[in-house]
Amino acid sequence: MTPDAVASIQWKGDKARLIDQTRLPGEEVYIDIETMEQMHEAIQKLRIRGAPAIGIAAAYGFYLGIRSIEADHFDSFWDTASSKADYLASARPTAVNLQWALERLKDGIKERRTQSIEDIKGWVLNEAKRIHEKDKKICKEIGEIGHALIPEEANIITHCNTGSLATGLYGTALSVIYHAHANEKNPHVWVDETRPLLQGARLTTWELMHANINCTLITDSTAGSIMKKGMADLVIVGTDRVAANGDVANKIGTYPLAVLADRHHIPFYVAAPLSSIDLNLSSGDQIPIEERSSEELTHIGTTRVAPEGTPTYTPAFDVTAHSLVNGFITEEGVIRDHFESQFAEFKQKQGAKTRS
Ligand code: MRU
Repeated sequence: MTPDAVASIQWKGDKARLIDQTRLPGEEVYIDIETMEQMHEAIQKLRIRGAPAIGIAAAYGFYLGIRSIEADHFDSFWDTASSKADYLASARPTAVNLQWALERLKDGIKERRTQSIEDIKGWVLNEAKRIHEKDKKICKEIGEIGHALIPEEANIITHCNTGSLATGLYGTALSVIYHAHANEKNPHVWVDETRPLLQGARLTTWELMHANINCTLITDSTAGSIMKKGMADLVIVGTDRVAANGDVANKIGTYPLAVLADRHHIPFYVAAPLSSIDLNLSSGDQIPIEERSSEELTHIGTTRVAPEGTPTYTPAFDVTAHSLVNGFITEEGVIRDHFESQFAEFKQKQGAKTRS
């Protein structure tokens, strides 16, 4: 099976279909999402997850929410539609892609205020499909650009899941690895298990093994000794949000990995679509960090692994300082320094292309 076969989300006529990522790798269960409330639940419970994938899911979820609005005038349609967008945006706070997709749809609705409500609804669905298709293209470009950074026979450490399951297709960090593999560089991937929800153990190994890419599962705390023994050439991760100065929010455990890579003089790369870069936030301190329920730490699946009543601290993401990042791999190219000005320049370049 190639990365093409693992679609996180599909639009099927009048509903969205997701592969339920909470059931992988044991079972491949597809769920049909017919309402905005179901999509909110699916995002919040991580049935669909990964920053770009939840942006796509929110876009379809928004359409599912607005298609039933009965309004005679634009203003009443707008009030209901924007409160539905706020509700969807509240499903998960860290990944900016979710807000980005919803803002894009809201902006488009405002521009169409003179059109009929039915036409506006039709536009929202088409725009959600465009966001989806565009993400597939962008992830492919990230892989094509990024694999130039991967030497032959490289040993690569990655964290969480950043593959087809986390995006429209291919992924971000995993797209780079898929493309290195397709270009016969024979990469080997050390997969961090990614406690507490085990996205690495459950999802990344599943994707890589289906794509016939060599991989080895490790506990999160093994990465340091692998680096010390000279068994890793680089680290590559994805991100949920990058601040204007280049600080990176990603799955909890990314920051220690970056510190270790720095200590061992191993390049640390972040693969991200430009939509993950939030120029409204000047530094990573401003990125909202989601805290998950304590059961995700006290239990593995349904098995309790900590005594009843154990106090917990459960941030789902951490922030890595920009000084620890050796490069951002984006669809417009690799950015190695002057992050703030380069991000703005790349976004401008992309905006100009879209308009032309
Ligand atoms: O909580 P998750 O599984 O949604 O976290 C996902 C990550 O942290 C990924 O690394 C990130 O979204 C980049 S995915 C392309």
